[in-house]
Amino acid sequence: MYTYDEHDQRLVDERAAQFRDQTRRYFEGKLTEEQFLPLRLQNGLYIQRHAPMLRIAVPYGHLAARQLRMVAHIARVYDKGYVHFTTRQNIQLNWPKVEDVPVILEDLASVQMHAIQTSGNCIRNTTSDPLAGVCADEVEDPRPYCEIIRQWSTLHPEFAFLPRKFKIAVTGAPSDRAAVRVHDIGLRLVRNAAGEVGFEVIVGGGLGRTPIIGKVIREFLPKRDLLTYLEAILRVYNLHGRRDNKFKARIKILVKEMGVEAFREAVEKEWQAIQGTFPLEDDIIAWYQARFVRPQYDPRAAEKDWEDERGRQAEFSAWYAHNTVSHKVPGYRVVFLSLKPPGVAPGDLTSEQLERVADLCERYSFGVTRTTHTQNLVFADVRQTDLFELWQALKEINLATPNIGKLTDMICCPGLDYCALANASSISVAGDIYRRFEDLDYLYDLGDIRVNLSGCMNGCGHHSVGHIGILGVDKKGEEWYQITLGGSSADDASLGERLGPAVAKDQVADTVEAIIKTYVDLRLEDEPFLATVRRVGVTPFKERVYANH
Ligand code: HEM
Ligand code: SF4
Repeated sequence: MYTYDEHDQRLVDERAAQFRDQTRRYFEGKLTEEQFLPLRLQNGLYIQRHAPMLRIAVPYGHLAARQLRMVAHIARVYDKGYVHFTTRQNIQLNWPKVEDVPVILEDLASVQMHAIQTSGNCIRNTTSDPLAGVCADEVEDPRPYCEIIRQWSTLHPEFAFLPRKFKIAVTGAPSDRAAVRVHDIGLRLVRNAAGEVGFEVIVGGGLGRTPIIGKVIREFLPKRDLLTYLEAILRVYNLHGRRDNKFKARIKILVKEMGVEAFREAVEKEWQAIQGTFPLEDDIIAWYQARFVRPQYDPRAAEKDWEDERGRQAEFSAWYAHNTVSHKVPGYRVVFLSLKPPGVAPGDLTSEQLERVADLCERYSFGVTRTTHTQNLVFADVRQTDLFELWQALKEINLATPNIGKLTDMICCPGLDYCALANASSISVAGDIYRRFEDLDYLYDLGDIRVNLSGCMNGCGHHSVGHIGILGVDKKGEEWYQITLGGSSADDASLGERLGPAVAKDQVADTVEAIIKTYVDLRLEDEPFLATVRRVGVTPFKERVYANH
């Protein structure tokens, strides 16, 4: 993974020192609440329902073992001994004390981490495919471009006060595992007819109260033009994005109101003025690529026979089938660590688990772990011959639940349990659904199903793009849930369609069960859930769910 140079290090050290001073002045009464607010938000520090919340940046989801250990230490000493992995590949601490945040930032800086631009109306953490660099279907590794965007966007003076927050995702593969179509800008590395690699540029996607699937504004952007083109998009948005209404301030609304053609023209016009002013030349790209050192793969890894181990245990075979995927290097496999065991809030990990994950990634995956937008972890480079051992070790720390991509691998926001904006709980509802579907054989029979839950329309749990989406709403002080069907954030991105009136909290699991039973009755042989919903529409599901209402 990328290693800081002296400039990167100085930046995070200086920021931590500044924040120490700002916090001191705040506690001495020299800075008012109002003056302190933007300063803390620039360092990812929110004030939430029960306590402050600190969001730590994890650029494109990469975490080295020593970083995991530091996060474990911070969670243990300054929080309640666990952290939360979010859909934007970041980490959240739910209970830090404001007075401890300066030292937390210093601790983070000591391992090349920070919380800069994890909140506020600026360009946020650039996210990517957790399988970047190791999947066979990749056109090119997207991570060097994520890093280039990270450096370009960090403290960019022109884009520090945008109309609203701004999210960029980059993928290098045709199978979209980074949800690029629901980001403010989504970039896909593609090859043109001449065989050159460049970017398809998608703009104006997003979730929240007005979910929108992004639109392509450029089918092929040469690599050398990446930063000037991004700059042009941001300029058009910065100039014309609405600042009068927070709910209409995202670029998706601007693109919608202008129309994609007019938006594209405005960007092209802006771009003409700056194209070529800071080109991304091949040697610069090569410099970044060289900093993503390719692991020293064992050339003999493919020679060893390991098949017998698979046969040893049915449980291991299930984990192998559902929690590991192929790797482009023979003899290696990519392993998903499920952060969705029974009885745990989706995405939560304790300090002890973080430390064990650090040990295990050092031993089995070149010392790096990745986070995913579905709130799981990935070991990208595991020798096949190590899989059995790794599985046993992961089982010991409750990270081997073989449910990746299955109904219980839910995305879920913190909801009423932590979030001040929530209308309804999400974690306990996820728990109700989980308990209903604990039979793994049944889950495997159902195939891949994405269930996403948010506690309010801000959509942190991606409910609008869940195959089954669940949105908490408040009805006269009671928690109710709207259900949608047919959403997706993958290459076939779509928004879910409302099933009907919201259901009460104690009926959500029943409703999901009725939906699943309807699917089982209606599916054609091997037809995935999403395909069935798209083929038959929501009506049959609706009839079944509301039959007794
Ligand atoms: C408790 C702390 C949190 C607060 C106060 C919060 C607040 C918000 C708000 C206000 C929005 C709406 C923004 C908009 O549409 O303009 C939003 C969107 C979002 N948040 Fe959160 N959130 C929190 C936690 C999380 C967590 C834990 C996750 C990941 C699980 C997350 C991921 C997202 C995502 C993916 C969106 C989608 C909106 C978009 O299209 O950009 N947030 N959040
Ligand atoms: S969706 Fe709503 S309830 Fe859930 S974390 Fe986001 S803002 Fe909070």
